[in-house]
Amino acid sequence: MIESSPLSPAGDRHFDGLAEKFAGSLYGGPRGALRLAMLDALLPEMLDLDGQPLLDVGGGLGQLSAWFAQRGHAVTLLEPAGDMLDQARQMLDSLPVSFVQAPLQALPERAAGPWPLVACHAVLEWLSDPRAAFATLAESLAPGGQLSLMVFNRDALRFSNVVKGNLQKALDDRLEGTGKRQRLTPISPLCHEQIVAWSRECGLSIRSVAGIRIFHDYLRHPPTSEADWQRLVALEHRYCQEEPHWRLGRYLLYTLVQEERTPEEKAR
Ligand SMILES: C[S@@+](CC[C@H](N)C(=O)[O-])C[C@H]1O[C@@H](n2cnc3c(N)ncnc32)[C@H](O)[C@@H]1O
Repeated sequence: MIESSPLSPAGDRHFDGLAEKFAGSLYGGPRGALRLAMLDALLPEMLDLDGQPLLDVGGGLGQLSAWFAQRGHAVTLLEPAGDMLDQARQMLDSLPVSFVQAPLQALPERAAGPWPLVACHAVLEWLSDPRAAFATLAESLAPGGQLSLMVFNRDALRFSNVVKGNLQKALDDRLEGTGKRQRLTPISPLCHEQIVAWSRECGLSIRSVAGIRIFHDYLRHPPTSEADWQRLVALEHRYCQEEPHWRLGRYLLYTLVQEERTPEEKAR
């Protein structure tokens, strides 16, 4: 029997058929709650927000789109997986959000911009060519436009594998998932150095960076009371932009800005 591949023709892991699992295993538990709590605190600190239109690329179930739409941004959510998009449509029913079913690679045709604000959270690590995708995101930005980028951190993946006792896997540096099963281990986890290099290539400057879940995923004793949960959130917030802690965040959250260049600079 020939097994159909869950990968798209471009080799990306679209989340078709994963909506329930993703909703339950991430957003249904403390990891998702912590991510949302951190974004709630950090997005207003890391971005200049004045109600500008937002493109949410690979918007999934729509949690991030909801955050922006509830704050007055007209949101366009671009997502290739039909069942993710259906759930997002239901959740965002009453909010100013429009939906485009398409992959990031179709952005120039389907949601051209240029955009003053683009978000792409937890998507690049599911693509076979995240570098090309990064360039597409950069090109969609207006001069001075901001990209809120969140990526799954390869260094943190190594650390957590060692903490869990997967020593041979870590020694062999076999960290990435295959994307072929129902496991949610990304196929292209990324390093900070890649984001630095790609930003330089694309004329983006890194305005700020933070680690998301710098402590939580390594805890031996997860919080069991609301008071301890609040202490953990306070610690995550206090150290998420401090050396060395941000570097081991499970995700790295960036604000990248398209530098405004003169026509002469562009021609060079
Ligand atoms: C881990 S989820 C993140 C969803 C959402 N951005 C969030 O932060 O909750 C990854 C999403 O990327 C989408 N995706 C996969 N390949 C994509 C592509 N080529 N273009 C755009 N989105 C893609 C998946 O379908 C899935 O909804």
